Amino acid sequence: MHAPKLRIKSPDVLIAESGADRAGHGLRRTMGLFQLVCFGVGAIVGTGIFVGLSDTVAEAGPATVLTFVLAAVTCVLTAFSFAELGGAIPVSGSSYSYAYATLGEGAAFITGWCLLLEYGVSVSAVAVGWGQYLNELLHSVFGWQLPAALSNPPGEGGVVNVPAVVVIALAASLLVRGVRESARATAAMAVLKIGVLALFCAIAFAAFEGGNLTPFAAHGLAGVTSGASVAFFSYIGFDAITTAGEEVKNPRRTVPLAIMVCIGVVTLLYCLVALAAIGALSADEVAGKPAALSLIVNHVTGSTVGGGVIAFGAIVAIASVVLTVTYGQTRILMSMSRDGLIPGVFQRISPKTATPVAGTWIVAAVFAVPAAVVPLKVVLDLTTIGTLSAMVIVNVSVIVLRRSRPGLARPFRAPLFPLPPLLGIACCGYLIYGTGTATWLQFGVFLLVGAVLYVAYGRRHSRLRSAHTGAAGTEAEGGAKAVKAAEAAGADGTTGPAGERAPVATHGG
Ligand code: ALA
Repeated sequence: MHAPKLRIKSPDVLIAESGADRAGHGLRRTMGLFQLVCFGVGAIVGTGIFVGLSDTVAEAGPATVLTFVLAAVTCVLTAFSFAELGGAIPVSGSSYSYAYATLGEGAAFITGWCLLLEYGVSVSAVAVGWGQYLNELLHSVFGWQLPAALSNPPGEGGVVNVPAVVVIALAASLLVRGVRESARATAAMAVLKIGVLALFCAIAFAAFEGGNLTPFAAHGLAGVTSGASVAFFSYIGFDAITTAGEEVKNPRRTVPLAIMVCIGVVTLLYCLVALAAIGALSADEVAGKPAALSLIVNHVTGSTVGGGVIAFGAIVAIASVVLTVTYGQTRILMSMSRDGLIPGVFQRISPKTATPVAGTWIVAAVFAVPAAVVPLKVVLDLTTIGTLSAMVIVNVSVIVLRRSRPGLARPFRAPLFPLPPLLGIACCGYLIYGTGTATWLQFGVFLLVGAVLYVAYGRRHSRLRSAHTGAAGTEAEGGAKAVKAAEAAGADGTTGPAGERAPVATHGG
């Protein structure tokens, strides 16, 4: 075995591979700050607030507002790490790439594996939430709903969740055409979802009853802890901003800024929505209800029109999350595939549409299955634990990179270092604890499968291994050269300008 003890991929290599050496395979830098913030809001605001809110209320009662703050603190602390790493290593792989640059290939593979929960399984969870509001809209407009058998999974009174599958298929068909590239559509969706939630607040606050907020922590500390884990789902997606690293103008400045702006806006919005919801209808009446925001508006206005408007907004909002998160998943798989850790099909970009067509359809087909047949709570908890675990790795990575590459250019540096990443790890641990035993066990099995796959496939096909051993196969050859060239270029440990290079190929319209 010639492989080094820890296969670490230098940041210079990651940056170089994302740009100039990918002639004919690169992506175009088109996104600015506003567009990136819209992209972030697009990825974040969806099922978590529109659907998951009532589950959080069931756990925490009126203290739901506090759970959103706890989840936000966890995200902000980790966002510092994302911002620092996203600025220093502006490539598309997100946490996966950061782990590769700091903790080595095994940790990177496991991070990528966790991201399948954060992105892939989250697509399933988000799609399931979409169906609830579709039914609410159908009810409000036509007085008719899809039969339970066709809109719920087995175990929840149904056979298959058809709307969930449909929205995933729609998202995939748009993505393969490069539709995500439409700046106007992304911005319009972000504005619409903020507008709908603001409208909800305006209506619900009109019926605000202060008495509904007491007793505040109705289910004690345990309720707040498990509630915070559920609330956390609503924030998932802020790191998707880093998956667009290769398509952002001036990514070293724009990526960190966009992450912070997004979390700030979204936290304010969520706290207001939670307060308005419980103030208008009481925690007991909101707890566990499907399409809860529409229910509340119907209750306050005494008609189904307002609820229908909210449902329409929710449908658009959640669909845009499916779109953005599916996009993020395909880009992470593209990075892993470039590294040889998963099959080459995921990095194949169609010359016609300049998008990863095959990879996108595979992602859609695979994650449509849990969307169709697994209950929302299960996919939601798995998404949460996978995301939190990946965030722990990001927080560790930022500490390791400060030590291993102190001279690397960092346009954003986490303040009060190493306090934020250390506190971030503690907060993630707290929320992981809140997901409960069943989720820990499911996650344990998932990790085990990932470790076996890495040993059986990833480790053997790794391009980094090829580069170090000289055993380059056809697919690995280009990568091996890139690795060596970039390692030579960045040998002093301080360079890293390649992230600003303009790749040559086009990507969508
Ligand atoms: N944060 C995303 C949502 O709420 C996953 O739908």
